[in-house]
Amino acid sequence: VGAGAAVTLTGCSIFDSRDSIDTVGQVDFRNRLHIPPLAESTRQDGTTVFDLTAQAGRSAVVPGGEADTWGINGPLLGPTLRAKRGAQVQINVTNELDEATTLHWHGMHLPAAADGGPHQMIEPGDVWSPSWRINQPAATLWYHPHPHGQTERHVYRGMGGLFIIDDEHEARLDLLREYGVDDIPVIVQDKTFDEHGRLVETSRRDNGMIGDTILVNGTAGPVLDITARRTRLRVLNASTARSYSFGFSDDREFSMIASDGGLLREPVALTRMLLTPGERAEIIVEMTPNDTTTLRSYPQDLGLSEGRSRSTGATDTLDILLLQAGGQLLPSAPVPARLATIEPLDESTAAETREFELRNNRINGESMDMNRIDDVVTIDTTEVWEVWNGHGQPHNFHVHDVQFQILDIDGRDPSPELSGWKDTVYLPPDVRFRLIMRFTEYTDPDVPYMYHCHLLWHEDEGMMGQFVVVERGQEPGAVDGDHDH
Ligand code: C2O
Ligand code: CU
Repeated sequence: VGAGAAVTLTGCSIFDSRDSIDTVGQVDFRNRLHIPPLAESTRQDGTTVFDLTAQAGRSAVVPGGEADTWGINGPLLGPTLRAKRGAQVQINVTNELDEATTLHWHGMHLPAAADGGPHQMIEPGDVWSPSWRINQPAATLWYHPHPHGQTERHVYRGMGGLFIIDDEHEARLDLLREYGVDDIPVIVQDKTFDEHGRLVETSRRDNGMIGDTILVNGTAGPVLDITARRTRLRVLNASTARSYSFGFSDDREFSMIASDGGLLREPVALTRMLLTPGERAEIIVEMTPNDTTTLRSYPQDLGLSEGRSRSTGATDTLDILLLQAGGQLLPSAPVPARLATIEPLDESTAAETREFELRNNRINGESMDMNRIDDVVTIDTTEVWEVWNGHGQPHNFHVHDVQFQILDIDGRDPSPELSGWKDTVYLPPDVRFRLIMRFTEYTDPDVPYMYHCHLLWHEDEGMMGQFVVVERGQEPGAVDGDHDH
């Protein structure tokens, strides 16, 4: 695309203009936002059973033609899973792709064998049926593939979806919860398409693929019709590498009510909200009749040098979703002043302190090895993990199985939006994060959980480690990392 030339794609026009080099595209919002359907389930002997099928398909996302995409129970993305705390769930995952993959329940507290990490590969034609009891607070979690070395590609092609957990506490609050009406999934991803509408998988910069087309729930140029005074948005950064500093085009305030692992103690009024890959937040936005506003990503300070910031897409301004209110809006209750009780985990009870330095696609100098257990954690103990990014590239840190609390960041208290339950956190270069977490899920000594950078190309390149949770004094088993296909 030459300077000043406009490529008009149905649903979205992209202008390449030299004087606004950091503005990626002017988006022509004309497609109704797709709302992923709620997954249907059946009851079998007290278990809630979901059937998911990973499949290849074709999707007309942008004009010019169709893209080869992957999805769950459809050609792109997947249905929203929903379950109540206390429910026993079983998910039958059938792999109809022609290569092996996995499905990982990101943010879920569950046995490692059900986790869907790189050790739970599903071969083409096979069915994998993990089952576990949901035991954590109401939250917006998600699911995505996790095959070692291939996660970026599998997610980029379109596999993933939300996994909403409900509980009695959340149900008692006067919150918006009519799915698809005033409670809206907002799965944000950046992709690159060629002039034939095909996915481009080579738009790689320093830290992974940065796309110039932003999709919400797989829709380009999306419009959301607002029908109530307030709307709850469950925002997920499902991009492989891009971070977003969300805000609205008119800088209106919004209330953040939940982070990765569930409700905050109280709503936080914000005009900007940073989500790096894998992170979620629930926000409530208020609108008046006939009001419009655009959810946007603003340039953000990731603590990177100028050049890196640009190559990471952090200098971009991106229009993401047009919210268009009708002439009559249903009333909705004000955001509750108190949301949840979060007992701070007590540092003095920590049985262990571990350090993790992320640097050069390694953690503590080691590249991921499927056959090596990096850390052995004792069941029913609390640990402090001190994590930092030791060089100038952007990284975040995600831990499987647990939700953690941030004790401090370079010795200072975390901001209110980082003071709830988290499973993924952005690490600006050379800043120390002390995370505290409790391990209560026993797992076989030879089935590990993962921790890693959630910039998926970094993860694929080896910025990942493995831990097991075992009885005191128990040795880890030999982990079977042999997955030849
Ligand atoms: Cu969302 Cu190990 O990942
Ligand atoms: Cu990274």
